[in-house]
Amino acid sequence: MITTKLKSHNCGNLNLNNINEEVTLSGWVATIRDLGGILFIELRDRSGIFQLVANPQINPEVHKIFEKIRSEYVICVKGKITRRPEETYNEKYATGQVEMYPESVEILSEAKTLPFVLDDPNVSEDVRLKYRYLDIRRENMLHNLTLRHKICQAARAYLNGEDFLEVETPILIKTTPEGARDYLVPSRVQEGKFYALPQSPQIFKQLLMVGGIERYYQIAKCFRDEDLRADRQPEFTQIDLEMSFVEQQDVIKVVEGLIVETFKAAGVDVKPPFIQMPWQEAMDRFGSDKPDTRFGLELFDIGDIILESNFEIVKNTLKNGGIVRGIRIPGGAKYSRKDIDDITKLAVSFGAKALANIIYNEDGTAKSPVLKFVTEDQAKQIQERAGAQAGDIIFFVADKPKLVYDIMGRLRLHFGKTLNLIDENKHNLLWVVDFPMFEWSEEEGRYMAMHHPFTSPNLEDLDKLDSGDLGNVKSIAYDIVYNGTELGGGSVRIHSSEVQKKIFKALGLTEEEAVEKFGFMVNALQYGTPPHAGLAIGLDRLVALLCRTDSIRDVIAFPKNSGAKDLMSDAPGEASLQQLRELHLKSTVTHK
Ligand code: AMO
Ligand code: AMP
Repeated sequence: MITTKLKSHNCGNLNLNNINEEVTLSGWVATIRDLGGILFIELRDRSGIFQLVANPQINPEVHKIFEKIRSEYVICVKGKITRRPEETYNEKYATGQVEMYPESVEILSEAKTLPFVLDDPNVSEDVRLKYRYLDIRRENMLHNLTLRHKICQAARAYLNGEDFLEVETPILIKTTPEGARDYLVPSRVQEGKFYALPQSPQIFKQLLMVGGIERYYQIAKCFRDEDLRADRQPEFTQIDLEMSFVEQQDVIKVVEGLIVETFKAAGVDVKPPFIQMPWQEAMDRFGSDKPDTRFGLELFDIGDIILESNFEIVKNTLKNGGIVRGIRIPGGAKYSRKDIDDITKLAVSFGAKALANIIYNEDGTAKSPVLKFVTEDQAKQIQERAGAQAGDIIFFVADKPKLVYDIMGRLRLHFGKTLNLIDENKHNLLWVVDFPMFEWSEEEGRYMAMHHPFTSPNLEDLDKLDSGDLGNVKSIAYDIVYNGTELGGGSVRIHSSEVQKKIFKALGLTEEEAVEKFGFMVNALQYGTPPHAGLAIGLDRLVALLCRTDSIRDVIAFPKNSGAKDLMSDAPGEASLQQLRELHLKSTVTHK
C-alpha cells in the first residue's frame, strides 16, 4: 500500500505485530460509546474495524474532540498501537487484541444523521438504492463488490493466459441481433437518425474474427430494454468471448477453464468436464432449458398409456401435437383437498387449463377423478411409469409442448423449494446443447431465432432449411447452467454468406431488410471469414450466485430498480425543450 499523510496503515490489518508502532489512521466512525467517561470509537475503513480510546485523564484535548464526534464522521488519528487488556480482547474483529489512545485527532468531515441504520435488515431496498453511496458502506456490499472484482481479475488472468486479446467495442451502434428491445440514442448531427445501444457485442466480436484477432474477450456492458426481474437489469455486464478456428467442444473447454478459475476466486472448487445434456432431454426430464439438477422429481411421459385409454379430452390434445407430462410427489397422498386446490391454482397461474392428479393411498388403492377414463391396468402402468409408491401423489398436464414444459418445470421448482429438496451446498454445472435453431412465436406468427440469427444450424439439417421444416432444425448452440440459472450462452457462428442468407430468409427477413439491418455483417462474411464460435457469461448472475444472493442488484454498485429507474440520481430524467429541439425530437408528453 502506498501510504499518505492521512493514512499510514489500514485499520483492519493492525494486530499484535504492530505494537508500539506510530501510525496514522483515517476512516469513518462506525460507533462511538461512552463507558464511564471514557470514549470508545470503532473506526472503520475498507479493511475493517479498529478501536480508538479517549480517556480525559490521559489526553483531555483528544477527549474533547471525541466528545464532538458522531457516527459516520470522517476522522484522522495519530498514535501508537497498544495491546488491549487481555480480558477486553474482542473475538469479533481481527484487530480485537489491539487499540490506540490517539495523540491527536482531526475531524476531516462531519456527517448528518444517516437516513437509515446501515445494518438494519428491515430497511427497504428502495431506501437503500436511493442512498446507495451509504448502502455501499455496509460490509455485505463491500464483500460483494470485492468478490466481483476478484472474479473479473480471475477471468482476465485466465483469458490472457489462453492468448485472448481484450478489445473494446462501441456503445453507440446500429442494432444488435439478441432479440430484446433496443435502447435508442437520437443523433443530433444526423437528423432523424438513432443509434442503438448494444444488447451485446455480438456483431463486433464476429467482425473482430473476420479482422484476424482470433481470440477476443471483453468485460462488456450490454443494454436491453426488457421487463426486469431479480436476475435481469437494463444494463448488465458480460464476460464476452469469441474464438476462430474452433468447434463447439473447443469453446466448451475454454469456458470450463474460465468457470474453474472464477469459481476458485470465490473459494469454490468445481471439476470439469461438466455434463452435456441435449436440450430435448433437459425439457423432457426437467421441463426447463436451465435445469436445476440439485434435486430429483424428474418429469415422466404417459402419452402412450393415455392414447390407449378413454381419456378423450387428453387424447385429443395429444393427437393435435400436444404432450402430457407428469410429476410424482413422494408422500403427497396426505395432501388435503385444499392443498391440491392450491397446487392446481398455482399450475393455472403458470398457464395450465387443468391439473390432473392421482393419489396412491397407503392401502394400495388409487383415488382420482381421471380413473373413470382409464382401466385398472392402465392406472397400474401409469403408477409404474411414475415410480409411484403407496402414499405418493402424481400430477400431470396435457397441452402444447412449450406450455407443458413450462408449467411442469415451474411446478417441479416449486416442490423442490417447498419440500426443501435443494441442497444449497451443491454446485451443479452442466451444458445444455443441441438447441432448436428456431422457436415458433405465437405473438408474431412466425419462427424466430432461438439464440440469434448468426448461430450456425446443424449442418446435417441444412436440407430442412430448404424444405421449410424449420421446427426440426437444430443449432450448434450451448448454454452453461449453474444450479438452475442460465449463466451464459453461445454458439458456433455461420461463416458462409450463403448459409447466412438462408437463415435470414427462414426468419422471414427480405434481402433488403437483412441488408438494412445487418448488411455490413453479411458483406464482411464475403471477405474470408474463419470458422468461429463464442459465448458470453452473465457476470452479474455469476457474481450474485457466488455471493449467494438472489438478486443481481446486490452485486451491482449502482443498479436500477424494477421500474428501470435509478432511485439515487432519479434517472431517467426529463430533457429540456432546447435539448429535444437539438435532437430533432418532439415529446408527446407534457411534463409539469
Ligand atoms: P445471451 O443473450 O444468452 O447471449 O446472454 C448471455 C448471458 O448474459 C446474461 N444476461 C443478463 N444478465 C442480466 N440482465 C439481463 N437483462 C441479461 N440478459 C442476459 C445471462 C445470459 O446467459 N451475444 C450472445 C452470446 C454469444 O452468442 O456469444 C448473448 O448475448 O447470464
Ligand atoms: P371431468 O372434467 O371431471 O370430466 O374430468 C376431467 C379430468 O381431466 C379432470 O381431472 C382434469 O383435471 C383432467 N384434465 C382435463 N384436461 C386436462 C389437461 N389438459 N391436462 C391434464 N388434465 C386434464
